[in-house]
Amino acid sequence: MSEIDGGRRPTRRQVLGTSAALAVLGYARPGFPADVNPLSPPMSAGDPGIVNAAVNLTINGTAQSLTVDTRTTLLDLLREHIGLTGSKKGCDHGQCGACTVLLDGRRINSCLSLAVMHDGDKITTIEGLAKGGNLHPLQAAFVEHDGFQCGYCTPGQICSAAGMLNEHKAGWPSVVSDDLASRPQLTDGEVRERMSGNICRCSAYPNIVAAIRDAAGETL
Ligand code: FES
Ligand code: FES
Repeated sequence: MSEIDGGRRPTRRQVLGTSAALAVLGYARPGFPADVNPLSPPMSAGDPGIVNAAVNLTINGTAQSLTVDTRTTLLDLLREHIGLTGSKKGCDHGQCGACTVLLDGRRINSCLSLAVMHDGDKITTIEGLAKGGNLHPLQAAFVEHDGFQCGYCTPGQICSAAGMLNEHKAGWPSVVSDDLASRPQLTDGEVRERMSGNICRCSAYPNIVAAIRDAAGETL
């Protein structure tokens, strides 16, 4: 008999804990409809005028060989053809960052990139960040700091943060860096600027910044 059947309702903490785990892993949250876009079903391969091409990618460590319409974006390939729906379609115009994935460790907007451009590339999505049953440090930090509300932007935020931390580690400056010759400290301002391509409609920004700085080992 479940706790609900037995008259004991799940606690708020249990509900939030379950929702948090689903958000950082890139799954739809309880109570939300499946987020596959009904307006963009896979096109029929037999439609006249469609040019198909083979593409081979390594996605989250697994080799994938597909034949797709050459107009298919990387985001649609991930979501519609492979079933990795963690990467989200927010604007489909490169403006929100919900679709961010890692291409050989660098962050890209997968909605702006055609799948056939990535033949031979290695792609990491939110589903590929956790290793051996352990959350990626950024995923754990987002849970710890409540770095989300609805969770829709969260997979993109976390993938973008992973790429951003690589850029910072490599010494890349941002437009708010005072000293372009040495690696800047990862202040709130640096994180906000470097993550400015990722929109959060729930405005969880303070907690997102805290989570990223914590995962980066910065003193909060
Ligand atoms: S869905 Fe790609 S940037 Fe918004
Ligand atoms: S948590 Fe809702 S859009 Fe960011």
